[in-house]
Amino acid sequence: MKVFHKANDIHAWLQSEHHTRSIGFVPTMGALHAGHLSLIDRSKAEKDLTVCSIFVNPTQFNDPNDLAKYPRTLADDTDKLLQHGCDVLFLPTEEEIYPDPSVKDRSYDLAGLDKRWEGANRPGHFQGVCMVVHRLLEIIPTDSLYLGQKDFQQFLILRHMVREILQWSVQVVPCPIVREDDGLAMSSRNVRLSEQERLDSLVLHRALQYIQQHAGQQPLHKLLQAAKSIITTAGSVQKLDYLAIVNAADLSPVEAYKDAPTLLAIVAAHFPSARLIDNQVIKGQLAEW
Ligand code: PAF
Repeated sequence: MKVFHKANDIHAWLQSEHHTRSIGFVPTMGALHAGHLSLIDRSKAEKDLTVCSIFVNPTQFNDPNDLAKYPRTLADDTDKLLQHGCDVLFLPTEEEIYPDPSVKDRSYDLAGLDKRWEGANRPGHFQGVCMVVHRLLEIIPTDSLYLGQKDFQQFLILRHMVREILQWSVQVVPCPIVREDDGLAMSSRNVRLSEQERLDSLVLHRALQYIQQHAGQQPLHKLLQAAKSIITTAGSVQKLDYLAIVNAADLSPVEAYKDAPTLLAIVAAHFPSARLIDNQVIKGQLAEW
C-alpha cells in the first residue's frame, strides 16, 4: 500500500495512474471498523485502484469535546487496510487540507437537505463535511466515491454537492449499513460506550425493526409512538434527538405509508458517552439510488 502525506504528491501520482486505471475513493476519519472495510471491499471489486483517506476533520465537529474524544487508531487502521488490499492511503495534515483560509470560507447551498435532523442538531456540521470532501475530491481524481448508508443524510448531501453544485461526473455510491451480530450499527463512536450503554444501545435497532415489521399495517404516528417507548425504556438513553419516518428522496417527514415510494425510519439518541444514529429502509429500496 502506498502512503502519501502531501496533497501535491498523491494528486500527481494518481493523475498519471488515472489515464489507464479507474479510481474508487473511501474518505474516512479513521477508527476503521467492518463498515468502513465493506466500502474498501466494494471499491476493490469495482475499481482498479482503491484510495482511502484518514483525516479527522475539525470543521465538521460542532462539539469540541466530540473532536477531542474521537478515537485515533492509526496503526490498527493501517493493518486493516493492508488486510483488505487497499492500494493507496492518504494521511494529510490539517495544513494540506486547508492550505489557505479560502477553503474554509466555502459555503454550499444544500437545498434545505442540511436543515433537518443531523443538520438541526449539529449546526455547521454538513458545511464542514462538504468542505472536506470537496477538497479531497480536488486532490484525489475519483470515479466512484463510496459512502456508508448509516450517515444517510450525509450521503444525500454529498451526492447533491457532487451532482448539482460541482456538476462533476463522480458516481456517489451508498453502501449498506454493517451491524454487529446483535444489531447495533457499526460506528467509530461505539467503543466509547460503557457495558450498560452498549446493552441499552440495542433499543435503537429494536425500535427501527419494530417500525419496519409493522409498517403498512398501522398508522405511522402510532408506530412512532410505540417505537419511542421502546427507546425511552432504556435507562442510559439521556435524550432522543429524533425518531421519524421520512421520504428517502429528501428526508421530509411523511404522514402516511403511501406518501413516498421509499421510506426510511431514522433515529438519533444521546447516551452518556456518545451520541448514536441509525436508520432502516421500511418501504422500497435504496439499491438503485
Ligand atoms: O463519514 C465520515 O467519516 C466523514 O464525515 C467523512 C465523509 C470522512 C468526511 O470527513
